[in-house]
Amino acid sequence: MVVKVCTNIEEVGKSAAAMFNAQVIKNPLSVLGLATGSSALPVYEEMINAHKLGLTDYAGITTFNLDEYCGLEPTHAQSYRYFMNENLFKQINIDTANTFFPDGTAKDFVQESARYEQSVSDRMGIDLQLLGLGHNGHIAFNEPCDAFPNATHCVQLTESTIQANARFFDSADDVPKAALTMGIGTIMRARAIVMVVFGEAKAEAVAAMVNGAITPKCPASILQLHPEVTIIADESAAKLLK
Ligand code: GLP
Repeated sequence: MVVKVCTNIEEVGKSAAAMFNAQVIKNPLSVLGLATGSSALPVYEEMINAHKLGLTDYAGITTFNLDEYCGLEPTHAQSYRYFMNENLFKQINIDTANTFFPDGTAKDFVQESARYEQSVSDRMGIDLQLLGLGHNGHIAFNEPCDAFPNATHCVQLTESTIQANARFFDSADDVPKAALTMGIGTIMRARAIVMVVFGEAKAEAVAAMVNGAITPKCPASILQLHPEVTIIADESAAKLLK
């Protein structure tokens, strides 16, 4: 696990985007794993800048997003599909037919989870995966629990995650109570992982992830076992690190 501490959010974004830009340049047929949330935004901004400068070509790139809320149509302004269209896909030359999400409107979530997991495998897995970090140590929507979930599955969101994500909705009551998410196994099978994290409110989660015990009570702690993980944090998120 490599931990890189940056002076501010912009530097976190630049540093993570440099890794994604390099991946796209190195292999124009890369499979990228993408994340939603405010932490991902500075990364996407810098990826868009590099694309506008003519450095990156997304024509052959495939993407898989980590998760999607259950019950939200792709056109819903708070769906993760909508977030990605607005904040990245519309601003680069990616073919949206090559951008994948679990279908939160599927009738059968078990079947849909299996289908999503299979489509990641069919494309030989993820080359580079972007992650954010939940305040409770969650990655994607893998909430603290008793055992690490392997594959894509349906999860009930914890009250703390609902409250944390309520800022994007009119009220906490509007936040969906469930989501489809890649499993910890899906994430760990990515060949390389970059996590971006900023702000003091996540300092405890960062310390537990990096210095704490490997436990499903802090899902991100599993990343200690991955051979190619880079955590890019600003100084306040990194302040409790040993
Ligand atoms: C949601 C997403 C996660 C993301 C987390 C942190 O719960 N499912 O993938 O990492 O939010 O979001 P933010 O970066 O907005 O704090």
